[in-house]
Amino acid sequence: MIKKSLENALNEQINAEFHSAYIYLSMSSYFLSVGLGGYANWMRVQYQEELAHATRFFDYVNERGGRVKLSPIQEVQVDFTGIVDAFEKTLEHEQVVTGMIDHLMDLAIQESDHATKSFLQWFVDEQVEEEANVEQILNNLRLINGEGQGLLMMDREMQTRVFVNPFSAKA
Ligand code: FEO
Repeated sequence: MIKKSLENALNEQINAEFHSAYIYLSMSSYFLSVGLGGYANWMRVQYQEELAHATRFFDYVNERGGRVKLSPIQEVQVDFTGIVDAFEKTLEHEQVVTGMIDHLMDLAIQESDHATKSFLQWFVDEQVEEEANVEQILNNLRLINGEGQGLLMMDREMQTRVFVNPFSAKA
């Protein structure tokens, strides 16, 4: 049975993952509104990944005999000043999520909850990848000044991203 302190923190993480999903779905809508279907697709896949993360936390709380409490999802931004702005906000958001995962890991260590530590390790590694991917996109966008032929080429590349559920057996 999971300790109350961890159950509460994991419930907050479920909410944060749904909030992330909401943020990226909103960004997908923004990219559709400015005619960048590839970026819209990339953000939609990002949204699907966040839903998978939320569901994995949901399953874990239940597996450990805890009780999931779903709370309201914070409102998200609808408009952005441009493509670079949206990706800068994505990076900032992922950095916040990394801090939350680190805090959860600290708590699991403090409570000597080895099962939760093991469970969280996947998310620790995932955050390194998430931040690196977004930084790479931001670097590319800055190289092309977020415009012109380069932007259209990147948009085509972003169209190729497909969602693969990392927890397919659990979904
Ligand atoms: Fe669920 Fe993008 O971290």
